[in-house]
Amino acid sequence: MGKFLNRISDITKIHHRAAFIDVADRIAPKKSAFLELASKRYSCRTFRTAPVEQSKIESILEAGRLAPTAANRQPVHVWAIIDEESRFKLADATKYTFGAPCIFLIGVDKEKAWVRGKDGKNSSDIDTAIVCTHMMLEAADLGLGTTWVGSFDPEKVAELIPQTKGYEIVAILPTGYPGAEASANHTNRISMENFSTII
Ligand SMILES: Cc1cc2nc3c(=O)[nH]c(=O)nc-3n(C[C@H](O)[C@H](O)[C@H](O)COP(=O)(O)O)c2cc1C
Repeated sequence: MGKFLNRISDITKIHHRAAFIDVADRIAPKKSAFLELASKRYSCRTFRTAPVEQSKIESILEAGRLAPTAANRQPVHVWAIIDEESRFKLADATKYTFGAPCIFLIGVDKEKAWVRGKDGKNSSDIDTAIVCTHMMLEAADLGLGTTWVGSFDPEKVAELIPQTKGYEIVAILPTGYPGAEASANHTNRISMENFSTII
């Protein structure tokens, strides 16, 4: 009898434990792996001199290649600049290269991008933004830092990197091993109430 009761109480304990885990999860759900990564990524503006391994460059490019684009037009092209002289030259087009050992240029062929019939909106910037975001997050997952750079002279980039002819460069992504932590700005976000509305 004693043994029997013990067993019942064991089962009840297990059930209680399961119920508590369940409740805890509902009150404060565990952050998904994706949310962990999204919070981990920050704009990195100081890089170590160590080069980025070829395999990591390829993974970052693959993450960009997998990104969705409007009507699957895939109008985006990416250049990975690792050549020292070219990286050095790019500093003439933007002050935001941060001496990174790898600099991605993300460009788009606007002619190839989907255009919304109703109002003629071209999706090239949107497509490029998704590609670049995939790349930033993959880089973060690989322990690398990046900063999306939008402040540059597009004509100068075209002149310095002639391979980009025919494309509009939308983003520059200096990439490398982080030499500094996130700035306070990284956690400065508007409140959920201001950000979203559930209707
Ligand atoms: C479209 C776009 C353009 C940006 N341009 C620059 C830039 O030219 N220089 C720079 O240092 N950071 C640039 N940033 C980085 C933002 O300043 C940064 O993402 C923002 O302050 C939030 O900080 P966090 O990325 O650390 O979370 C840009 C970001 C985006 C999305």
